[in-house]
Amino acid sequence: MKNSVRGWFVSGMLPASAGASALILAAALSFSAPVHAQQPAPAATPTATPAPVEKEKDELGKYTTADGDPIYNIQADGTLDWYTYSGYRRYHAECHVCHGPDGMGSSYAPALANSLKTMTYPQFMEIVVNGKQNIGVGTADQVMPAFGENKNVMCYLDDIYIYLKARADGALGRERPSKREDKTKAYTANENQCFGRPS
Ligand code: HEC
Repeated sequence: MKNSVRGWFVSGMLPASAGASALILAAALSFSAPVHAQQPAPAATPTATPAPVEKEKDELGKYTTADGDPIYNIQADGTLDWYTYSGYRRYHAECHVCHGPDGMGSSYAPALANSLKTMTYPQFMEIVVNGKQNIGVGTADQVMPAFGENKNVMCYLDDIYIYLKARADGALGRERPSKREDKTKAYTANENQCFGRPS
């Protein structure tokens, strides 16, 4: 339960030195206060309309933010950029057995559509390349394998990140993607090079 009434009293109504007595007062008050008085105050921080992200598209068909991080680009009619679409497929080929369909998580591994709300691009890369092991107390150890040697993951790391970022930001739902931008020639050349195939 949130102590919004108490917090408001201590911080807003009384000098800091009166904190202890305010706690007693507020405790007594919240005990008898009608339910509506305990509703949290409306959030003071603005939550609406995130600032539009400036994106650049390179010759591979990959979009990046001003910081240089890969990012999805989903058009108003639902058309996905190639990387988001590719990431959807690669995620469901390599990750979803543990992390659940659509990044929703499973009893074994966390929901990546949630993890990427806070995890940065370098943090994501580091974990997927090197793996992660959470030694549980009294529970089965959970192991995130290291994929650094697995080309089916390494050659599509940005794709997977971009897809999961779109899921984490709520830009992409759980539906199967249909419309997408074309795969560019540069992307195919890059892919072949990554796998050591002649292009
Ligand atoms: C064999 C099962 C398995 C597979 C396959 C797997 N993971 Fe994991 N992953 C885990 C487990 C278990 C954890 C939690 C480990 C921990 O907390 O120490 C985890 C954790 C992670 C984390 C950290 C999440 C967080 O919130 O801390 C990331 C990122 C991640 N995995 C990405 C991936 C990606 C991308 C793929 C596919 C390329 C993948 N994983 C495939 C089991 C798996």
